[in-house]
Amino acid sequence: MEYRYLGSTGLKVSALCMGTMQLGWYVAEPDAYGLLDAACAAGINFIDTANVYSRWVEGNPGGVAEEIVGRWIKRSGLPRHRLVVATKVRAVIGDGPNDQGLSRVHIIRSAEDSLRRLQTEYIDLYQSHWYDENTPIEETMAAFDTLVQQGKVRYVGASNHPAWRMMQALWASDRRNLARYVSYQPSYSIVRREGFEREMEEVCQAYGLGVLPYSPLEGGFLTGKYRRDANDVDSPRAEGARRYFTERNWALLDLLEEMGQEKGQYSISQMALAWLLHKPVVTSPIIGPRNTEQLNDNLGAVDCKLEDEEFNRLSAASEWKSE
Ligand SMILES: NC(=O)c1ccc[n+]([C@@H]2O[C@H](COP(=O)([O-])OP(=O)(O)OC[C@H]3O[C@@H](n4cnc5c(N)ncnc54)[C@H](OP(=O)(O)O)[C@@H]3O)[C@@H](O)[C@H]2O)c1
Repeated sequence: MEYRYLGSTGLKVSALCMGTMQLGWYVAEPDAYGLLDAACAAGINFIDTANVYSRWVEGNPGGVAEEIVGRWIKRSGLPRHRLVVATKVRAVIGDGPNDQGLSRVHIIRSAEDSLRRLQTEYIDLYQSHWYDENTPIEETMAAFDTLVQQGKVRYVGASNHPAWRMMQALWASDRRNLARYVSYQPSYSIVRREGFEREMEEVCQAYGLGVLPYSPLEGGFLTGKYRRDANDVDSPRAEGARRYFTERNWALLDLLEEMGQEKGQYSISQMALAWLLHKPVVTSPIIGPRNTEQLNDNLGAVDCKLEDEEFNRLSAASEWKSE
């Protein structure tokens, strides 16, 4: 496994982060343990979860993925400091008016709940899941700062922010001398580039934010399981993958497959992850395998080093800028 600094911090994380949105959704708890054991045995030290996972699934109250991760940490016997545990706050987690958002009240309460579910004394990276337009950014950053001062949180990060909101947060932290976002978690893959590359990529470069692309395989589209003429896949992720069914994207899949085979039997998913890993701005894509076979495939991407010429060819085929 390769380890990288998380942005401009001194914290080292594995080049792949283990996502946990699927745990307690379409991966049952005993299988989740096997997945986490295998990820850890392969050198992954970085785990991403969220307080809300997976509240959108019938019968799941939310917090279930955190509970599974917490029980796994305990049963694994691993010293806590061997893991970098990231979680998130912001989503709706109940019916009350303060059961969501980035207010001081909700952030502090959610952190306490996450610590309890994760059975740990601290969260390594506490992330705002997305921005809260109704709370002053100074209140949000001061609440995160309180948690850092209390030793309950080590670093804070953000996800799903437009560039101006990220800048507002960074400036608020600098002005008030508060804990500052050190990382950014965007939806980013070779087939979905514009959202991150239009503005946030430069912000992350300029401000030294670690970048943690989520859904790097677009829920399975970038694996080859969906094909031009055979895309009837039985998966809870199938509906989400449909948005990528365009001729341009099928051609990109063909190219990823052809280049992976030429390079030495690398899969489409390994090539798609390798494209992200080649970018200096990217720290650690967050993978979401449903079983160990998928995990092993995803892990193989770390050894799939692209030449600049290969990276450029894939970038040209997935370019979104018109000139
Ligand atoms: N910050 C945010 O707002 C946000 C949002 C979403 C996710 N996340 C984080 O990112 C993590 C990963 O997201 P994701 O699950 O969307 O990641 P993803 O890697 O894009 O999709 C995972 C899905 O891809 C398929 N897959 C992966 N490897 C495969 C292989 N080798 N062969 C065939 N299929 C393969 C599986 O689909 P099947 O299930 O069909 O087999 C799997 O469920 C989450 O767990 C979460 O931690 C964050």
